[in-house]
Amino acid sequence: MTFEPHRPTVPAGLRWSAATSAFQIEGSREADGGGRSIWDDYLERPGAIIDGSTGDPGGDSYRHPELDVALAAGLALDRYRFSIPWARLQPDGRGNGNTAALDHYSRFVDLLLEAGVTPFPTLFHWEMPSAMEAEGGWLSRDTVARFADYVAIVADRLGDRVEHWYTLNEPAMTTLQGYAVGALAPGKQLLFDALPTVHHQLLAHARASEALRARGAAQVGLLNNHTWVLPLHDTAEDQQAAALYDIIHNRVFSEPLLTGGYPDLEALGLPAMPVHDGDLEAIVRSIDFYGINFYNPTTITAADAASPIPFDIVPTPGVPVTGFGPEWPIMPSALRDLLIDLHARHPEMPPVIIGENGASFPEPDDAGRVEDPARIDYLAGHIAAVAEAIDAGVPVEEFTVWSLLDNWEWADGYTQRFGLVHVDFETGERTPKASYDWYRDLIASAKAAATTTEESR
Ligand code: BGC
Repeated sequence: MTFEPHRPTVPAGLRWSAATSAFQIEGSREADGGGRSIWDDYLERPGAIIDGSTGDPGGDSYRHPELDVALAAGLALDRYRFSIPWARLQPDGRGNGNTAALDHYSRFVDLLLEAGVTPFPTLFHWEMPSAMEAEGGWLSRDTVARFADYVAIVADRLGDRVEHWYTLNEPAMTTLQGYAVGALAPGKQLLFDALPTVHHQLLAHARASEALRARGAAQVGLLNNHTWVLPLHDTAEDQQAAALYDIIHNRVFSEPLLTGGYPDLEALGLPAMPVHDGDLEAIVRSIDFYGINFYNPTTITAADAASPIPFDIVPTPGVPVTGFGPEWPIMPSALRDLLIDLHARHPEMPPVIIGENGASFPEPDDAGRVEDPARIDYLAGHIAAVAEAIDAGVPVEEFTVWSLLDNWEWADGYTQRFGLVHVDFETGERTPKASYDWYRDLIASAKAAATTTEESR
């Protein structure tokens, strides 16, 4: 697939964004009375974080928000996706909001608006307050109301200036990695008993959406992490295993939002969702856009009969990989195929926002200009894939790079760099990479093309 950055094939009007999340860039974990989150707990487990790091000070963005705003403005982003950490705002997950932290994010919103960048916050990027997790976290239905209360506090303070909101980042990763296999916080290993966390997250999103709309929000949605599932072999066993994986990674999250019902889990021998009257109606009404984070396809083969789960995730044959190795295959056509397939299944779906796409590659730790042609190729390929999906009728409105800057990659600590901007984690110094310049030029040429199209009408 080819793509020429200075003659973008992207249709006029696509919005451009870049993303970060609080715990991954802010540092200052205890500043302004912030509370503990499940990540503070998880990173203290011996061996949980590959390099033993804590994410603090990381990019030190809490103390220097103006640096990130300048970088976002330098790209001429339409929107900047950042996250507001629940545990900083409501240290115990309940009660009045923490005024000092609310002031901080209020100032941050003002900084973005002054720089001409629309703020697009995420209200939950995985930092569940420890106190809430102790009461069951997403396994407990009570967390739904607690989350909606927190969201109302944030919207009461910022809703006069923030109109666009993401509620949850990637509920699939919270369920699969956080509660099923334990590779992310809260580190539980419940396998299929993690499934109630799907419903509680989607319901929490729906209740949060109601709270946001009641406070004037123009656009609310969440971000599903989707993957394009490929059977390793063209056999009935591998196809069946791939279909099951597709359900638990993709469809269990997409179908309630887009059709108002879950796939038939009981037919697959899985526990049914803990649905109460009215839940599904609230969920299907809850999105103004459909958010998708996409990184890679997933190749599946049937597991041994003795395995507790009936599928194995295996390397995708014949494609290049990112800094994570075979775990993260690079296949831009998978994004196109996924978008076209989702739209074919749900022709009435709302506009699509790509809320994350990007890649990590091995790069030097010390500050300095980084030439990162592999990241440029990765992004160019995926933007071209989005353009093809748009040509095929998929209503994609926005594309977001993960990430604006190098950050703390959860259990992988500082070993994976995803940024358009290099961060020296010793000094906090930020240096735009070649991909930053490339993305800036791409945005400029796409906007110039859009203006020309508009004028020639
Ligand atoms: C998450 C980010 C993460 C990125 C790369 C996404 O799943 O939302 O927090 O850094 O992937 O792994």
